[in-house]
Amino acid sequence: MKILVTGGAGFIGSHLVDALVEEGHEVVVLDSLDPQVHQDEPDYMNSRATYHFGRVGDLTILERVLEGVEVIFHEAAAVGVGQSMYEIARYVEANTFETARMLDQIVNHENQVKRIVVASSMSIYGEGAYECEDCGVVYPELRSDEQMKRRIWEMQCPECGKTTKPLPTDEEKPLKPRSIYAITKRDQEEMCLSVGQAYGIPTTALRYFNVYGPRQSLSNPYTGVCAIFSSRIKNNNPPLIFEDGLQTRDFISVHDIIKANILAMKKRSGDYETFNVGTGNAISILEVAEKLTELYSSDVKPEIVNKFRAGDIRHCFADTRKIEQKLGFKPEHSFEEGMRELVAWGEKVEAEDEFEQAYEELKVKGLVEE
Ligand code: UD1
Repeated sequence: MKILVTGGAGFIGSHLVDALVEEGHEVVVLDSLDPQVHQDEPDYMNSRATYHFGRVGDLTILERVLEGVEVIFHEAAAVGVGQSMYEIARYVEANTFETARMLDQIVNHENQVKRIVVASSMSIYGEGAYECEDCGVVYPELRSDEQMKRRIWEMQCPECGKTTKPLPTDEEKPLKPRSIYAITKRDQEEMCLSVGQAYGIPTTALRYFNVYGPRQSLSNPYTGVCAIFSSRIKNNNPPLIFEDGLQTRDFISVHDIIKANILAMKKRSGDYETFNVGTGNAISILEVAEKLTELYSSDVKPEIVNKFRAGDIRHCFADTRKIEQKLGFKPEHSFEEGMRELVAWGEKVEAEDEFEQAYEELKVKGLVEE
């Protein structure tokens, strides 16, 4: 089958390309090679795939690239949460508008597209789900500035103010995207699903939790915490931990993300559905910092800075029941094993620590405390 992977030179897209080629598919890639992510053309490009360099929203290229394509994996996106709060138009253009143009092309021109799998994100939930011992399941808003300034990090019940306990977040949780990035990921998900439904093109949205693994850009300070900490440690700088370090996330290996994508392509039970793609395990940011310093055999000591980043959520981890039931997906890679792989790879690649500069930028904009 002929398959298009947008963002196929990126972290997740490139692993997907390899897996699809391995399965015997004819794979075409459309990627803009964003300089913030790629210093050069990546050395892992697959010699058995065909690459086109350009933007998803460029209809001239898209028309050519779509020729004969039956399945689209839409992975291309600008991905910095903090950055999206001050490069608003760029994020809306890259994620929302360029997806809109791709869909316009699909519905208005002759093509063979029979299935779309779109990369969505846990960020569209905003805060995760919580349980209050008196009020039951609650879906709080982000913590207020006032609460954060008092260093009360845990989530309080929106009804009675008691400290709550995090629960796995399922797909039914009301969506409360609280960054421009998250809003554009919801746009991508909803636009693909609604166009798919209207035109009878089976579409599946995969809400990735915090993805890590080889090929993650270690020099892009706007990516996730595993990459940022790796690059800090490699450059002998301490990882800086916001809040008290006990905030948690659901870290999932890129290899499991690929497995979920392949299942979404193959199984009709995923048509027009959205799925969490996580492990269901909550891991604290402090644990991540400690594990990475240990595995890098580094002497640097993670620093808990007791400050906070605007817009950060406290806890979010996946309820994995739906994807397990409908797609038969179960993650195979443990956190320990995945971190070992990340470090083994990280030791071989260069990493410029651009964190300070990005941090300063956030400070200037008032998105992190002085
Ligand atoms: C966000 C997005 C997610 C996206 C990811 C990477 C939300 C809810 N989710 O996740 O969709 O895939 O960014 O772009 O917006 N931290 C530190 N020190 C650092 C960096 C981060 O302590 O140097 C902490 C943060 O304060 C946060 C946690 O690590 O508590 C995770 O941060 P990050 O990796 O940026 O990801 P999310 O905010 O979970």
